[in-house]
Amino acid sequence: MKVLASYNIKGGVGKTAAAVNLAWLSARGGHRTLVWDLDPQGAATYYFRVKAKVKGGGRGLVSGRRALDDLIKATDFANLDLLPADFSYRSLDLLLEQEKKPTRRLRKILKPLAEHYDVLLLDCPPSISLVSEAVFFAADALLVPVIPTTLSLRTLDQLFDFRARQQLDDLAILPFFSMVDRRKGLHREIVEQLPAQRVEMLKTPIPYASEVERMGLEKAPLGRFAARCGAAAAFESLWDEVAARLNIGNP
Ligand SMILES: Nc1ncnc2c1ncn2[C@@H]1O[C@H](COP(=O)(O)OP(=O)(O)OP(=O)(O)O)[C@@H](O)[C@H]1O
Ligand SMILES: [Mg+2]
Repeated sequence: MKVLASYNIKGGVGKTAAAVNLAWLSARGGHRTLVWDLDPQGAATYYFRVKAKVKGGGRGLVSGRRALDDLIKATDFANLDLLPADFSYRSLDLLLEQEKKPTRRLRKILKPLAEHYDVLLLDCPPSISLVSEAVFFAADALLVPVIPTTLSLRTLDQLFDFRARQQLDDLAILPFFSMVDRRKGLHREIVEQLPAQRVEMLKTPIPYASEVERMGLEKAPLGRFAARCGAAAAFESLWDEVAARLNIGNP
């Protein structure tokens, strides 16, 4: 099982849009896929039309008293399941802190899922916290949406520094450009120049597109209602890149 986390310390950059659309593509490709919506806001849960409620809440999960299998819900799509958000996730940090090895805890909780799933996508809340650290220890790769501005690039550098300091050498950081508006000079400039300086950067930019905004009205991934739009094609090509980098082969 490959564990991917849609992560950025910044809010509103396209983490959930990426998690939902990439999970849909993974499932369509025949991989048994699970999305865990770790954000108490529950946006990914909403897009999949599932109720944001987890029996026993974050406490049951973190303590290991609740088996994950019981809490997982099916979505409308084949091969695609969801572990919903719960409002109690807002205090996941405090719950983790009570455990012996807080940063290793999530990895341990996820282990049994490997029997049932090929790909696990964690949709993370925007923060850098104990939960994020636990995610870094549990994930094979962070998918990091980056809006092409100078400040976003600084944040990205901080993330690379953090990985080095924590000696998370096995964690791949895969940034990609998100919400790219080619009418903006600075967006064009950064998108054209940055990838040359960074080998980790994925090559496919996700354009700013009204179809992605419409996911909220349709309550569905792009593939369900706008499969032929440019943004859907971009996510497809992004998924191919991610799969190639992480050796997620054909099932
Ligand atoms: N490529 C895009 N084009 C246009 N709008 C987008 C795009 N990606 C995301 N959005 C919109 O921007 C808003 C934020 O996107 P999203 O929820 O995916 O970001 P996020 O990083 O998960 O946010 P949060 O930090 O709150 O979890 C949403 O309203 C979404 O519809
Ligand atoms: Mg989100």
